[in-house]
Amino acid sequence: MALGPFAPDCLKGRSAIVTGGGSGIGFAIAQTLSEAGAKVALVSRNLDRLQSAAQVIRSGGAEVRTVAADVREPEAVQAAVQATVAAFGGLDIMIANAAGNFVVPFEDMSFNAWRTVIDIDLHGTFHCAKAAYPHLKTSAHGGRFIAISTLRALEGWPGCANAAAAKAGVMSLIRTLALEWGPDGILCNTIAPGPIEGTEGVKRLYDETGQTKAQSASVPLGRFGRAEDVAQAALYLCSDAAGFVTGTDLVVDGGRQRGQRGKA
Ligand code: HXC
Ligand code: NAP
Repeated sequence: MALGPFAPDCLKGRSAIVTGGGSGIGFAIAQTLSEAGAKVALVSRNLDRLQSAAQVIRSGGAEVRTVAADVREPEAVQAAVQATVAAFGGLDIMIANAAGNFVVPFEDMSFNAWRTVIDIDLHGTFHCAKAAYPHLKTSAHGGRFIAISTLRALEGWPGCANAAAAKAGVMSLIRTLALEWGPDGILCNTIAPGPIEGTEGVKRLYDETGQTKAQSASVPLGRFGRAEDVAQAALYLCSDAAGFVTGTDLVVDGGRQRGQRGKA
């Protein structure tokens, strides 16, 4: 993973949690924040996966912890935050990245399929915000709360009604938190990636439904994103360079949304 133009120590002395940090976009974010000097805790359900991911990040010399927790369970998220604060001495950055998604037409979507994705994506983000707030508020660097969203939530998203509603809720929550937490010096933003190659999301939504080629062709920059594109956007939002940026969606999609809007 590359730091790009960022200084290797630009997050030195800060501590971060990345939910879903054991795979895909979350892993890339965790790795990049670590390379920038942050201490990082990876939080998700599958401890084996977290430990393998932590091993990779640690090989670069970074301080990394793993905590098994299901973001649907508020007590588990609270415990993960407490464990991180105890280990690192505080919490400056919370990245709510964990999510679940699958393609199913609305008429076939069970009540539990709806509830499951809303629970992981929307309630999970709420649980992260609740648990992180007291610590972000006392961050010496100014707390950062970032949720990973998608513009598909605002466009209409056939086959993903549950994820669309959940992510739209997340985007709304972030706007409110930016206003409520601004006086506490906590910056709250979303990152809205377009399709990111090699991820579980693209596998489920596009590879398995035969849409990869067409979707890729719809990106003005001519390719799917890479996990490091999202990771560097996250690093920017966590860095001092973004000190006056809050309540926004940082779209990282190679211009795809503009192309979609141009279509009937
Ligand atoms: C229809 C499905 C389904 C499918 C699950 N369900 N998969 N329905 N089609 N493919 C239904 C089940 O039948 C069940 O309803 C309910 O959803 C809950 O399923 P469980 O398997 O019991 O849930 P759980 O074990 O909690 O697992 C959660 C999960 C799983 C979301 C279903 O896939 C998961 O853990 N996903 C995490 C990884 C992931 O999704 N990554 C992609 C993120 S990409 P019933 O009624 O039968 O009980 C993303 C955006 C990508 O978020 C954007 C790309 C551009
Ligand atoms: P991914 O690799 O499947 O990442 C999802 C992560 O969330 C996994 O590490 C998973 O770990 C964790 N997770 C899922 N359910 C959880 C739960 N209940 N509790 C705790 N952790 C849970 O998928 P990805 O494609 O990288 O997606 C990452 C984020 O980017 C998601 O928010 C997604 O909506 C967003 N996004 C992705 C794309 C894309 O193109 N991939 C585009 C736009 C937005 P465990 O299984 O160990 O729990």
